[in-house]
Amino acid sequence: MSTELLFPADFLWGAATSAYQIEGAPLADGAGPSIWHEFAHTPGRTRNGDTGDIACDHYHRCREDVALMAELGLNAYRFSISWSRVLPEGRGRVNPPGLGFYERLVDALLEQGIQPMLTLYHWDLPAALDRLGGWLNPDSADWFADYVQILFRALDDRVQLWVTLNEPWVVVDGGYLHGVLAPGQRNLFAAPHASHHLLRAHAAAVQAYRAIGRHQIGLVVNLEPKYPATASAEDFAATLRADAYWNRQYLDPVFLGAYPPELAEIFGAAWPTFPAADLDFIRQPLDFLGVNYYSRQVVRHDPQDWPLQAARIRQPRHTYTSLDWEVYPQGLTDILEWVAQRYGPLPLYITENGAAFYDPPQADDLADDPLRQRYLRDHLQAALAARQKGVNLRGYFAWSLLDNFEWAHGYAPRFGLTHVDYATQRRTIKASGRFYAKVIRSQGAALRVDDAGA
Ligand code: FCB
Repeated sequence: MSTELLFPADFLWGAATSAYQIEGAPLADGAGPSIWHEFAHTPGRTRNGDTGDIACDHYHRCREDVALMAELGLNAYRFSISWSRVLPEGRGRVNPPGLGFYERLVDALLEQGIQPMLTLYHWDLPAALDRLGGWLNPDSADWFADYVQILFRALDDRVQLWVTLNEPWVVVDGGYLHGVLAPGQRNLFAAPHASHHLLRAHAAAVQAYRAIGRHQIGLVVNLEPKYPATASAEDFAATLRADAYWNRQYLDPVFLGAYPPELAEIFGAAWPTFPAADLDFIRQPLDFLGVNYYSRQVVRHDPQDWPLQAARIRQPRHTYTSLDWEVYPQGLTDILEWVAQRYGPLPLYITENGAAFYDPPQADDLADDPLRQRYLRDHLQAALAARQKGVNLRGYFAWSLLDNFEWAHGYAPRFGLTHVDYATQRRTIKASGRFYAKVIRSQGAALRVDDAGA
Protein backbone atom coordinates (compact mmCIF):
# COMPACT_ATOMS: atom_id res chain seq x y z
CA MET A 1 0.00 0.00 0.00
CA SER A 2 1.39 3.37 -0.93
CA THR A 3 1.02 5.89 1.84
CA GLU A 4 3.40 8.68 0.80
CA LEU A 5 1.93 12.14 0.81
CA LEU A 6 -1.46 10.85 1.85
CA PHE A 7 -1.35 12.57 5.22
CA PRO A 8 -1.18 16.31 4.57
CA ALA A 9 1.63 18.37 6.06
CA ASP A 10 -0.76 19.98 8.57
CA PHE A 11 -2.12 16.62 9.82
CA LEU A 12 -2.13 16.55 13.63
CA TRP A 13 -0.18 13.67 15.14
CA GLY A 14 -1.02 13.66 18.81
CA ALA A 15 -1.55 11.73 21.98
CA ALA A 16 -4.32 12.24 24.53
CA THR A 17 -4.66 12.20 28.31
CA SER A 18 -7.11 13.54 30.89
CA ALA A 19 -6.56 15.45 34.12
CA TYR A 20 -7.70 12.99 36.78
CA GLN A 21 -6.02 10.07 35.03
CA ILE A 22 -2.48 11.51 35.03
CA GLU A 23 -2.07 14.60 37.21
CA GLY A 24 -2.13 13.31 40.78
CA ALA A 25 -2.10 15.92 43.58
CA PRO A 26 -5.86 16.43 43.23
CA LEU A 27 -6.10 18.78 46.21
CA ALA A 28 -2.80 20.64 45.74
CA ASP A 29 -2.47 24.42 45.86
CA GLY A 30 -6.06 25.16 46.80
CA ALA A 31 -7.85 22.77 44.38
CA GLY A 32 -11.25 21.44 45.41
CA PRO A 33 -12.28 17.77 45.28
CA SER A 34 -13.95 16.34 42.19
CA ILE A 35 -16.53 13.55 41.97
CA TRP A 36 -13.71 11.25 40.81
CA HIS A 37 -11.67 12.01 43.93
CA GLU A 38 -14.65 11.14 46.12
CA PHE A 39 -15.70 8.10 44.08
CA ALA A 40 -12.18 6.60 44.04
CA HIS A 41 -11.95 7.11 47.82
CA THR A 42 -15.25 5.28 48.38
CA PRO A 43 -14.47 1.66 49.34
CA GLY A 44 -15.38 -0.86 46.65
CA ARG A 45 -15.67 1.59 43.78
CA THR A 46 -12.34 1.00 42.02
CA ARG A 47 -10.23 -2.10 41.49
CA ASN A 48 -7.78 -2.53 44.41
CA GLY A 49 -9.08 0.73 45.84
CA ASP A 50 -6.81 2.57 43.38
CA THR A 51 -7.17 6.37 43.32
CA GLY A 52 -5.80 9.27 41.28
CA ASP A 53 -3.95 10.68 44.34
CA ILE A 54 -0.57 10.22 42.66
CA ALA A 55 -1.33 8.79 39.19
CA CYS A 56 1.56 9.79 36.87
CA ASP A 57 2.47 12.77 39.06
CA HIS A 58 2.09 14.86 35.94
CA TYR A 59 1.15 17.89 38.05
CA HIS A 60 4.77 17.98 39.18
CA ARG A 61 6.37 16.53 36.05
CA CYS A 62 4.60 18.32 33.25
CA ARG A 63 7.81 19.75 31.77
CA GLU A 64 9.36 16.29 31.62
CA ASP A 65 6.20 14.99 29.96
CA VAL A 66 6.23 17.73 27.35
CA ALA A 67 9.86 16.78 26.59
CA LEU A 68 8.64 13.21 26.12
CA MET A 69 6.05 14.40 23.60
CA ALA A 70 8.79 16.24 21.73
CA GLU A 71 10.90 13.08 21.74
CA LEU A 72 7.98 11.20 20.15
CA GLY A 73 7.73 13.93 17.52
CA LEU A 74 4.12 14.84 18.37
CA ASN A 75 2.84 18.07 16.88
CA ALA A 76 -0.35 18.05 19.00
CA TYR A 77 -1.43 17.07 22.51
CA ARG A 78 -4.96 16.63 23.84
CA PHE A 79 -5.41 17.13 27.60
CA SER A 80 -8.20 18.17 29.93
CA ILE A 81 -8.67 20.80 32.59
CA SER A 82 -9.65 19.84 36.11
CA TRP A 83 -12.60 22.16 36.74
CA SER A 84 -12.13 22.06 40.53
CA ARG A 85 -8.47 23.10 40.28
CA VAL A 86 -9.62 26.28 38.60
CA LEU A 87 -12.84 26.74 40.61
CA PRO A 88 -12.55 24.76 43.87
CA GLU A 89 -16.31 25.02 44.53
CA GLY A 90 -17.20 24.71 40.85
CA ARG A 91 -18.52 28.28 40.81
CA GLY A 92 -17.47 31.67 42.06
CA ARG A 93 -13.93 32.01 43.39
CA VAL A 94 -11.07 31.30 40.94
CA ASN A 95 -7.99 29.51 42.32
CA PRO A 96 -5.05 31.25 40.55
CA PRO A 97 -2.47 28.45 41.10
CA GLY A 98 -4.84 25.95 39.44
CA LEU A 99 -5.26 28.12 36.38
CA GLY A 100 -1.51 28.87 36.45
CA PHE A 101 -0.67 25.18 36.12
CA TYR A 102 -2.53 24.96 32.80
CA GLU A 103 -1.04 28.23 31.55
CA ARG A 104 2.45 26.84 32.18
CA LEU A 105 1.55 23.57 30.46
CA VAL A 106 0.25 25.39 27.37
CA ASP A 107 3.34 27.59 27.24
CA ALA A 108 5.62 24.56 27.50
CA LEU A 109 3.75 22.87 24.64
CA LEU A 110 3.96 25.93 22.42
CA GLU A 111 7.69 26.27 23.09
CA GLN A 112 8.08 22.79 21.59
CA GLY A 113 5.81 23.51 18.63
CA ILE A 114 3.10 21.21 20.01
CA GLN A 115 -0.45 22.37 19.36
CA PRO A 116 -2.73 22.04 22.41
CA MET A 117 -6.23 20.58 22.08
CA LEU A 118 -7.94 21.47 25.34
CA THR A 119 -10.89 19.47 26.72
CA LEU A 120 -12.97 21.46 29.17
CA TYR A 121 -14.76 18.49 30.76
CA HIS A 122 -13.36 14.99 31.01
CA TRP A 123 -15.62 13.55 33.73
CA ASP A 124 -14.26 15.20 36.90
CA LEU A 125 -17.15 17.43 38.00
CA PRO A 126 -16.40 19.52 41.11
CA ALA A 127 -17.81 17.62 44.11
CA ALA A 128 -19.45 20.83 45.35
CA LEU A 129 -21.62 20.87 42.21
CA ASP A 130 -22.56 17.22 42.58
CA ARG A 131 -23.97 18.09 46.00
CA LEU A 132 -26.32 20.45 44.13
CA GLY A 133 -27.43 17.61 41.85
CA GLY A 134 -24.57 17.65 39.34
CA TRP A 135 -25.72 17.15 35.75
CA LEU A 136 -29.27 16.53 36.97
CA ASN A 137 -29.57 20.16 38.00
CA PRO A 138 -30.85 22.30 35.08
CA ASP A 139 -28.49 25.08 36.26
CA SER A 140 -25.51 22.89 35.34
CA ALA A 141 -25.44 24.38 31.84
CA ASP A 142 -24.95 27.86 33.36
CA TRP A 143 -22.28 26.62 35.78
CA PHE A 144 -20.42 25.14 32.85
CA ALA A 145 -20.78 28.27 30.71
CA ASP A 146 -19.39 30.43 33.55
CA TYR A 147 -16.46 28.08 34.10
CA VAL A 148 -15.47 27.77 30.44
CA GLN A 149 -15.45 31.53 29.93
CA ILE A 150 -12.65 31.79 32.48
CA LEU A 151 -10.60 29.38 30.36
CA PHE A 152 -11.48 31.10 27.07
CA ARG A 153 -10.35 34.44 28.48
CA ALA A 154 -7.14 33.03 29.92
CA LEU A 155 -6.05 30.78 27.07
CA ASP A 156 -7.73 31.52 23.74
CA ASP A 157 -4.71 33.63 22.79
CA ARG A 158 -2.67 30.38 22.85
CA VAL A 159 -5.13 27.50 22.39
CA GLN A 160 -6.70 27.04 18.96
CA LEU A 161 -8.64 23.80 19.45
CA TRP A 162 -11.24 23.60 22.21
CA VAL A 163 -13.41 20.64 23.18
CA THR A 164 -16.50 21.14 25.32
CA LEU A 165 -17.20 17.60 26.62
CA ASN A 166 -15.44 14.28 26.42
CA GLU A 167 -17.82 11.38 25.76
CA PRO A 168 -21.15 12.49 27.23
CA TRP A 169 -22.37 8.95 26.55
CA VAL A 170 -19.93 7.51 29.09
CA VAL A 171 -20.67 10.27 31.61
CA VAL A 172 -24.31 9.23 31.63
CA ASP A 173 -24.18 5.49 30.92
CA GLY A 174 -21.46 4.89 33.54
CA GLY A 175 -22.28 7.68 35.98
CA TYR A 176 -26.08 7.88 36.01
CA LEU A 177 -27.46 4.67 34.49
CA HIS A 178 -25.21 1.78 35.54
CA GLY A 179 -23.46 3.43 38.48
CA VAL A 180 -19.99 2.08 37.65
CA LEU A 181 -18.35 5.49 37.20
CA ALA A 182 -18.61 8.70 39.25
CA PRO A 183 -21.00 9.86 40.62
CA GLY A 184 -22.22 6.24 40.81
CA GLN A 185 -25.95 6.62 40.26
CA ARG A 186 -28.12 3.88 38.77
CA ASN A 187 -31.36 5.44 37.71
CA LEU A 188 -33.23 4.98 34.42
CA PHE A 189 -35.30 8.09 35.11
CA ALA A 190 -32.27 10.29 35.84
CA ALA A 191 -30.15 9.32 32.84
CA PRO A 192 -32.09 11.16 30.07
CA HIS A 193 -32.05 14.37 32.14
CA ALA A 194 -28.29 14.15 32.69
CA SER A 195 -27.81 13.66 28.92
CA HIS A 196 -30.02 16.59 28.09
CA HIS A 197 -28.31 18.97 30.52
CA LEU A 198 -24.90 17.89 29.25
CA LEU A 199 -26.03 18.79 25.74
CA ARG A 200 -27.37 22.13 26.97
CA ALA A 201 -24.04 22.74 28.72
CA HIS A 202 -22.15 21.90 25.53
CA ALA A 203 -24.29 24.34 23.54
CA ALA A 204 -23.95 27.07 26.18
CA ALA A 205 -20.16 26.68 26.02
CA VAL A 206 -20.16 26.91 22.22
CA GLN A 207 -22.33 30.02 22.37
CA ALA A 208 -20.03 31.61 24.96
CA TYR A 209 -17.04 30.76 22.78
CA ARG A 210 -18.53 32.55 19.77
CA ALA A 211 -18.65 35.72 21.86
CA ILE A 212 -15.11 35.46 23.29
CA GLY A 213 -13.01 33.01 21.27
CA ARG A 214 -11.33 33.41 17.90
CA HIS A 215 -10.43 29.82 17.06
CA GLN A 216 -12.23 26.48 16.90
CA ILE A 217 -14.53 24.56 19.21
CA GLY A 218 -16.01 21.08 18.95
CA LEU A 219 -17.33 18.07 20.81
CA VAL A 220 -15.76 14.65 21.45
CA VAL A 221 -17.93 11.52 21.35
CA ASN A 222 -17.08 7.84 21.62
CA LEU A 223 -18.53 5.91 18.73
CA GLU A 224 -18.83 2.19 18.22
CA PRO A 225 -20.30 0.79 14.99
CA LYS A 226 -23.04 -1.78 15.53
CA TYR A 227 -23.43 -4.83 13.31
CA PRO A 228 -26.31 -7.33 13.60
CA ALA A 229 -25.27 -10.86 14.65
CA THR A 230 -27.76 -12.46 12.21
CA ALA A 231 -30.14 -11.35 9.48
CA SER A 232 -33.17 -11.75 11.78
CA ALA A 233 -35.60 -8.85 12.18
CA GLU A 234 -35.11 -8.99 15.97
CA ASP A 235 -31.34 -8.63 15.76
CA PHE A 236 -31.73 -5.85 13.24
CA ALA A 237 -34.07 -3.94 15.56
CA ALA A 238 -31.69 -4.51 18.49
CA THR A 239 -28.84 -3.14 16.37
CA LEU A 240 -30.82 0.01 15.64
CA ARG A 241 -31.52 0.48 19.37
CA ALA A 242 -27.86 0.04 20.24
CA ASP A 243 -26.83 2.43 17.48
CA ALA A 244 -29.38 5.05 18.56
CA TYR A 245 -28.36 4.82 22.22
CA TRP A 246 -24.62 4.83 21.68
CA ASN A 247 -23.94 6.69 18.41
CA ARG A 248 -26.92 8.92 17.65
CA GLN A 249 -28.11 9.95 21.15
CA TYR A 250 -25.76 12.95 21.26
CA LEU A 251 -24.93 13.58 17.61
CA ASP A 252 -28.50 13.73 16.30
CA PRO A 253 -29.51 16.56 18.66
CA VAL A 254 -26.23 18.42 18.04
CA PHE A 255 -26.33 18.22 14.24
CA LEU A 256 -29.95 17.45 13.36
CA GLY A 257 -31.87 19.00 16.26
CA ALA A 258 -33.78 15.89 17.37
CA TYR A 259 -33.29 12.81 19.55
CA PRO A 260 -33.43 9.45 17.75
CA PRO A 261 -36.94 7.92 18.06
CA GLU A 262 -35.55 4.62 19.42
CA LEU A 263 -34.69 6.33 22.74
CA ALA A 264 -38.35 6.59 23.71
CA GLU A 265 -38.69 2.86 23.11
CA ILE A 266 -35.56 2.08 25.17
CA PHE A 267 -36.38 4.34 28.13
CA GLY A 268 -40.16 3.82 28.06
CA ALA A 269 -41.90 5.85 30.77
CA ALA A 270 -38.53 7.31 31.81
CA TRP A 271 -38.15 9.21 28.53
CA PRO A 272 -39.27 12.84 29.03
CA THR A 273 -40.64 15.27 26.48
CA PHE A 274 -37.95 17.91 26.13
CA PRO A 275 -38.77 21.52 25.20
CA ALA A 276 -38.39 22.22 21.48
CA ALA A 277 -36.51 25.43 22.33
CA ASP A 278 -33.82 23.35 24.05
CA LEU A 279 -33.35 21.28 20.92
CA ASP A 280 -32.97 24.42 18.82
CA PHE A 281 -30.40 25.72 21.27
CA ILE A 282 -28.42 22.46 21.35
CA ARG A 283 -27.90 22.64 17.60
CA GLN A 284 -25.03 25.17 17.66
CA PRO A 285 -22.74 24.99 14.61
CA LEU A 286 -19.42 23.30 15.45
CA ASP A 287 -15.98 23.73 13.93
CA PHE A 288 -15.04 20.07 14.23
CA LEU A 289 -16.02 16.76 15.76
CA GLY A 290 -13.69 14.48 17.72
CA VAL A 291 -14.30 10.73 17.52
CA ASN A 292 -12.94 8.31 20.12
CA TYR A 293 -12.80 4.80 18.71
CA TYR A 294 -11.86 1.59 20.48
CA SER A 295 -14.05 -1.28 19.32
CA ARG A 296 -17.28 -2.43 17.68
CA GLN A 297 -20.33 -4.36 18.81
CA VAL A 298 -21.91 -7.35 17.13
CA VAL A 299 -25.48 -7.21 18.41
CA ARG A 300 -28.07 -9.84 19.26
CA HIS A 301 -31.55 -9.24 20.64
CA ASP A 302 -31.49 -10.31 24.29
CA PRO A 303 -34.41 -9.70 26.69
CA GLN A 304 -32.01 -10.10 29.67
CA ASP A 305 -29.95 -7.07 28.70
CA TRP A 306 -31.04 -3.90 30.58
CA PRO A 307 -32.25 -1.51 29.32
CA LEU A 308 -31.43 -2.06 25.62
CA GLN A 309 -32.18 -5.76 25.21
CA ALA A 310 -29.17 -5.79 22.91
CA ALA A 311 -26.29 -8.08 23.89
CA ARG A 312 -22.69 -8.02 22.72
CA ILE A 313 -21.70 -11.21 20.92
CA ARG A 314 -18.13 -12.47 21.33
CA GLN A 315 -16.28 -13.15 18.10
CA PRO A 316 -14.39 -16.44 18.14
CA ARG A 317 -10.74 -16.23 17.04
CA HIS A 318 -10.68 -12.43 17.16
CA THR A 319 -8.16 -10.58 19.32
CA TYR A 320 -9.49 -8.97 22.51
CA THR A 321 -7.66 -6.42 24.67
CA SER A 322 -7.12 -6.87 28.39
CA LEU A 323 -10.36 -4.95 28.99
CA ASP A 324 -12.06 -7.50 26.74
CA TRP A 325 -12.65 -5.06 23.88
CA GLU A 326 -12.62 -6.67 20.44
CA VAL A 327 -9.89 -5.40 18.13
CA TYR A 328 -11.63 -4.36 14.90
CA PRO A 329 -9.77 -1.74 12.82
CA GLN A 330 -12.28 -1.81 9.95
CA GLY A 331 -14.83 -0.35 12.37
CA LEU A 332 -12.83 2.88 12.50
CA THR A 333 -13.10 3.36 8.73
CA ASP A 334 -16.79 2.41 8.85
CA ILE A 335 -17.70 4.81 11.64
CA LEU A 336 -15.81 7.77 10.15
CA GLU A 337 -17.57 7.24 6.83
CA TRP A 338 -20.90 6.98 8.63
CA VAL A 339 -20.29 10.27 10.47
CA ALA A 340 -19.38 12.03 7.22
CA GLN A 341 -22.45 10.67 5.45
CA ARG A 342 -24.94 11.36 8.21
CA TYR A 343 -23.69 14.67 9.60
CA GLY A 344 -21.84 16.26 6.70
CA PRO A 345 -18.29 17.08 5.73
CA LEU A 346 -17.12 18.91 8.87
CA PRO A 347 -13.48 18.41 9.94
CA LEU A 348 -12.98 15.28 12.02
CA TYR A 349 -10.26 14.25 14.45
CA ILE A 350 -9.70 10.83 15.93
CA THR A 351 -9.35 12.18 19.45
CA GLU A 352 -8.67 8.81 21.14
CA ASN A 353 -7.70 5.37 19.91
CA GLY A 354 -5.62 2.76 21.66
CA ALA A 355 -5.53 -0.52 23.52
CA ALA A 356 -4.82 -1.96 26.94
CA PHE A 357 -2.67 -5.04 26.69
CA TYR A 358 -0.66 -6.92 29.21
CA ASP A 359 2.89 -5.80 28.38
CA PRO A 360 5.54 -8.53 28.66
CA PRO A 361 7.98 -8.08 31.56
CA GLN A 362 10.47 -5.38 30.67
CA ALA A 363 14.21 -5.55 30.38
CA ASP A 364 15.67 -2.12 31.19
CA ASP A 365 14.92 0.43 28.49
CA LEU A 366 13.30 -2.08 26.22
CA ALA A 367 9.54 -1.93 26.45
CA ASP A 368 8.24 -4.30 23.82
CA ASP A 369 4.50 -4.26 23.24
CA PRO A 370 3.87 -6.02 19.92
CA LEU A 371 0.09 -6.22 20.30
CA ARG A 372 -0.25 -2.49 20.92
CA GLN A 373 2.13 -1.71 18.06
CA ARG A 374 0.04 -3.82 15.70
CA TYR A 375 -3.17 -2.22 17.00
CA LEU A 376 -1.72 1.22 16.32
CA ARG A 377 -0.52 0.33 12.84
CA ASP A 378 -3.81 -1.29 11.83
CA HIS A 379 -5.90 1.60 13.13
CA LEU A 380 -3.70 4.22 11.48
CA GLN A 381 -4.13 2.32 8.23
CA ALA A 382 -7.90 2.29 8.83
CA ALA A 383 -7.75 6.07 9.37
CA LEU A 384 -5.85 6.46 6.14
CA ALA A 385 -8.44 4.31 4.34
CA ALA A 386 -11.14 6.71 5.58
CA ARG A 387 -9.17 9.66 4.20
CA GLN A 388 -8.84 7.87 0.87
CA LYS A 389 -12.63 7.47 0.83
CA GLY A 390 -12.97 11.23 1.17
CA VAL A 391 -13.47 11.64 4.92
CA ASN A 392 -12.24 15.05 6.10
CA LEU A 393 -9.94 13.64 8.78
CA ARG A 394 -7.46 16.20 10.12
CA GLY A 395 -5.61 14.42 12.91
CA TYR A 396 -5.08 11.39 15.11
CA PHE A 397 -4.53 11.28 18.89
CA ALA A 398 -3.33 8.03 20.40
CA TRP A 399 -4.74 7.04 23.78
CA SER A 400 -2.57 7.43 25.68
CA LEU A 401 0.69 9.29 26.05
CA LEU A 402 1.31 7.46 29.35
CA ASP A 403 0.05 4.42 31.20
CA ASN A 404 -2.43 5.93 33.63
CA PHE A 405 -5.40 5.59 36.01
CA GLU A 406 -8.05 3.77 34.00
CA TRP A 407 -11.03 4.91 36.10
CA ALA A 408 -12.82 2.07 37.91
CA HIS A 409 -10.23 -0.40 36.56
CA GLY A 410 -7.44 1.39 38.42
CA TYR A 411 -3.84 1.04 37.26
CA ALA A 412 -3.96 -2.55 35.95
CA PRO A 413 -4.85 -1.79 32.32
CA ARG A 414 -1.98 -0.10 30.53
CA PHE A 415 -2.82 2.03 27.49
CA GLY A 416 0.39 4.07 27.23
CA LEU A 417 2.78 4.59 24.35
CA THR A 418 5.07 5.17 27.31
CA HIS A 419 5.46 2.76 30.19
CA VAL A 420 5.17 4.29 33.66
CA ASP A 421 6.85 2.58 36.59
CA TYR A 422 4.48 3.75 39.32
CA ALA A 423 7.02 3.09 42.10
CA THR A 424 9.63 5.44 40.64
CA GLN A 425 7.58 7.45 38.10
CA ARG A 426 10.18 6.53 35.49
CA ARG A 427 8.86 6.82 31.93
CA THR A 428 10.10 4.47 29.16
CA ILE A 429 8.90 4.83 25.59
CA LYS A 430 7.47 1.49 24.44
CA ALA A 431 8.06 -0.07 21.02
CA SER A 432 4.59 1.20 20.02
CA GLY A 433 5.70 4.73 20.91
CA ARG A 434 8.89 4.37 18.88
CA PHE A 435 6.86 3.01 15.98
CA TYR A 436 4.48 5.97 16.22
CA ALA A 437 7.45 8.34 16.17
CA LYS A 438 8.62 6.65 12.98
CA VAL A 439 5.19 6.98 11.39
CA ILE A 440 5.12 10.68 12.29
CA ARG A 441 8.64 11.32 10.99
CA SER A 442 7.84 9.56 7.71
CA GLN A 443 4.42 11.28 7.41
CA GLY A 444 2.77 7.87 7.24
CA ALA A 445 5.20 5.99 4.99
CA ALA A 446 6.23 3.71 7.89
CA LEU A 447 2.69 2.31 7.89
CA ARG A 448 3.54 0.04 4.99
CA VAL A 449 3.04 -3.49 6.33
CA ASP A 450 6.55 -4.66 5.47
CA ASP A 451 8.07 -1.79 7.47
CA ALA A 452 5.86 -2.17 10.49
CA GLY A 453 7.56 -5.23 11.90
CA ALA A 454 4.28 -6.91 12.79
C1 FCB B 1 -12.26 6.55 27.03
C2 FCB B 1 -11.95 7.71 27.96
C3 FCB B 1 -10.52 7.79 28.37
C4 FCB B 1 -9.91 6.43 28.61
C5 FCB B 1 -10.18 5.51 27.45
C6 FCB B 1 -9.57 4.14 27.58
O1 FCB B 1 -13.60 6.20 27.14
O2 FCB B 1 -12.31 8.93 27.35
O3 FCB B 1 -10.44 8.63 29.49
O4 FCB B 1 -10.36 5.93 29.81
O5 FCB B 1 -11.57 5.37 27.28
